[in-house]
Amino acid sequence: MFITFEGIEGCGKTTQINLMGSFLDTKGLPYIITREPGGTEIGEEIRKILLSSKNKDMSLTTELFLYIASRAQHIKEVIKPALANKKIVLCDRFSDATIAYQVYARGFDLKLVKKLNQLATYGLTPDITILFDCPVDVGLTRAMGRIRSETNQAKEDRFEREDRNFHEKVREGYLKVAKKKNERIIVIGGTKDRDIIHQEICNTVFPKIIAER
Ligand code: TMP
Repeated sequence: MFITFEGIEGCGKTTQINLMGSFLDTKGLPYIITREPGGTEIGEEIRKILLSSKNKDMSLTTELFLYIASRAQHIKEVIKPALANKKIVLCDRFSDATIAYQVYARGFDLKLVKKLNQLATYGLTPDITILFDCPVDVGLTRAMGRIRSETNQAKEDRFEREDRNFHEKVREGYLKVAKKKNERIIVIGGTKDRDIIHQEICNTVFPKIIAER
């Protein structure tokens, strides 16, 4: 079972992935937690290039190809083998992120990005996607708080310095995708209490995991 977690910066997805992992531990179910960009040695190198503030002059096309390149490696090296071994894959961002960020916020053509996603994934799509929706102000405040507590200095992360309007477009983009793919994407309000959200996810996802096994 392939489960992806999506949302704007600071939506709470990373916390919820870790909670989901602990929950699967209690059930004795095999799983991996991975992320994009990243998830492989090559992917993590690509992630550094993408998020470094040194690279703020990167062309948007270069950026698009790097996300796709990281995904291609991730699919081949991590996701496909894990699924073949009947592991549950919990992935922090995947193809929907490229649609929300590169299509709806950056302005790339939807059909083109779908084709590139298809190329990178060989058509593999998640079984379930959890989209954490929250107002941009809430997400950005959380993300900035996290950066300060983690590093005590400005994190080299280009996306968290984009203007508010950019993040609004990402949020709207995700909601558009969720509307189109409502059989796969579950939208969860990201402002609720973390334990309530976790319970909501378990109630929705666990029966599907059991049904598949
Ligand atoms: P993260 O901070 O959630 O790990 O994500 C890293 C950044 O990369 C985040 O700002 C979203 C962005 N991103 C894209 O723009 N396109 C993509 O396809 C992916 C996977 C991430």
